[in-house]
Amino acid sequence: MCGIFGYCNFLCEKSRREVCDTLLNGLSRLEYRGYDSAGFAVDGDIEDTLIIKQVGKVAALRKLTDDQPLDFSKPFISHCGMAHTRWATHGQPSQINSHPQRSDDKNEFVVVHNGIITNYKEIKLLLEKKGYVFESDTDTECVAKLTKYVFESHNKELNFTELVKTVVKELEGSYAFIFKSTHFPNEIVATRRGSPLLIGVKTQKKLKVDFVDVESSDNSFATVEGQDMSRPALNRSQSRAFLSEDGLPQPIEYFLASDASAIVEHTKRVLYLEDDDIAHIADGELHIHRVRRSKEDNTAPTRSIQTLEIELAEIMKGSFDHFMQKEIYEQPESVVNTMRGRVNFENHEVTLGGLRGFTHIIRRARRIIFVACGTSYHSCLATRSIFEELNQIGTQAELASDFLDREPPIFRDDVCVFVSQSGETADTILAMRYCLERGALCVGVTNTVGSSISRETHCGVHINAGPEIGVASTKAYTSQYIALVMMAIQLAQDSKSSQKRREEIIDGLYRLPSDIKEVLAIDAKLQQLAVEQLAQEKSLLILGRGYQNATCLEGALKIKEISYIHSEGIFAGELKHGPLALIDETMAVILVMTQDKYYPKVQSALQQVSARSGNPIVICNTGDENLKNHHRTIEVPKTSDCLQGLVNIIPLQLLSYHLAILKGVDVDFPRNLAKSVTVE
Ligand code: F6R
Repeated sequence: MCGIFGYCNFLCEKSRREVCDTLLNGLSRLEYRGYDSAGFAVDGDIEDTLIIKQVGKVAALRKLTDDQPLDFSKPFISHCGMAHTRWATHGQPSQINSHPQRSDDKNEFVVVHNGIITNYKEIKLLLEKKGYVFESDTDTECVAKLTKYVFESHNKELNFTELVKTVVKELEGSYAFIFKSTHFPNEIVATRRGSPLLIGVKTQKKLKVDFVDVESSDNSFATVEGQDMSRPALNRSQSRAFLSEDGLPQPIEYFLASDASAIVEHTKRVLYLEDDDIAHIADGELHIHRVRRSKEDNTAPTRSIQTLEIELAEIMKGSFDHFMQKEIYEQPESVVNTMRGRVNFENHEVTLGGLRGFTHIIRRARRIIFVACGTSYHSCLATRSIFEELNQIGTQAELASDFLDREPPIFRDDVCVFVSQSGETADTILAMRYCLERGALCVGVTNTVGSSISRETHCGVHINAGPEIGVASTKAYTSQYIALVMMAIQLAQDSKSSQKRREEIIDGLYRLPSDIKEVLAIDAKLQQLAVEQLAQEKSLLILGRGYQNATCLEGALKIKEISYIHSEGIFAGELKHGPLALIDETMAVILVMTQDKYYPKVQSALQQVSARSGNPIVICNTGDENLKNHHRTIEVPKTSDCLQGLVNIIPLQLLSYHLAILKGVDVDFPRNLAKSVTVE
């Protein structure tokens, strides 16, 4: 959705140029989350806050910054800055709607926000009645103005943490915020609910301990109307992590971000904020408080400082032109990473450590319900039938948004599996909470350690695909698919009757990296196909059946989202129930016709299409004599039927990439989309 970034240096001198560059570079790393406008706030020269914002990508903001008549050499021994890259939800992309949003024309309180405030209209109305004049169409502006209002209505007596605590108690919706204020120079407050936020810590000396205490302070201090001014004594225990041995303050830098990819180039030491945490950074110390301390609050008393496992090279394009291209080409490796240490190819066994202790419960499930969105949903569709076949448990795949609309009955003996690359997709998170409330066992399958879905589910599988930065999901799809196949195998491991089948699939998994490489090797042919035949098309149908239904939907999604060519995945079994009407000599069709038990039925679909003068391009197994001389073919190696979708999707990913290039689309930043959809 949006990306937020904050940078605080303490006793560690940086020029204004260095501060701005750190903020702008942080935004560039987060740009995949939203890229219609961007902005940042830093200290001015007279104890004021400067805001610089621009429509378009971070490069445009960088240029605007360079054009400012500022003294970029001005040094700051300590400083707090914040930045934002936007994917518009409330209000068009424009300078005024970009973040940071501000409380007033003196920039007393400035805020960057990722998420949506659902009660912003009510707050805006209240503030307008109090005389506040709004300048933007955003929901975030009401937060900046509410902060000023609360501060003033409490006679400016609240400290920064108390103030933000009071403000966020009034908010409904989802958010990750960073606040900065001229009233609290060199301080920053960050908080989250439902949107991700983590903090990187960089010090010269080792930290004393690898956790930060959550500081306790009872009750609430204040309300918006200001009736409750009783202030309980703050039980402040300075976090042990930042106590220095000699009692002298030590130089330190903090990096706050929606995503680890913006932090890893500075430090690998990070802590993930929990929902309702309030992080206050001042005088080189990081203090964590809770918005509410209640008996039901069962979060840990500390936040551990963890070591990021991603490498900088993983978030760089290297020799590739685009992240998407790099990620497609990484698949022979990323699929191995998903299986590493989990699949024993010799004794044909799967061990998913994250499900340890839960497999017996899952085996007894009445139903398995997959819930996901977009590409992640397609990975569920692709693997649903192998779950059913191996485990004989009814397995359904649900689109999270539709699931939420329907509010279906969920029972304690259901097992609900939430599949999400980011682990932060709002609809999937809401569906997860819905199922948690109803007592179902919830399993998370994500690519993001520390994400909401991986933290809030009872157990799960991390797909280990490495960071996926291109907006169009490619390697995460294949890794999710494999993670689900592994899960299906592990659940069936005690069954003698399915042993042969499991062995055949595990042998297929072993060959997968080389199968994928074989398809990548025909990239030039696919590029030629895109140039000669497909780039001119207005519409493209992708037909298949059985295991390949998911391939068709996923291939069509890839094509439409990055080349803007209309494309539809059609279940071949449905052809004569309507879609056949679209077929004539002008309609572009790709038919997925690899050899499995549905082959004769797909052959009949091919005949139906040919009989209507259609001339499909056929994705088939290498050397398929039935097709070779009659159709333009894309040949792919044959594998186990339930894994064939992993191989068949590769040419469609590559075709979509080439079509996007031919259409002049900015592949990694397709219009109207963002990588992580943290709003409903
Ligand atoms: C398409 C794509 C999206 C995501 C969907 C869910 O290429 O990436 O359809 O799959 O937005 O996102 P996650 O997997 O993060 O929940």
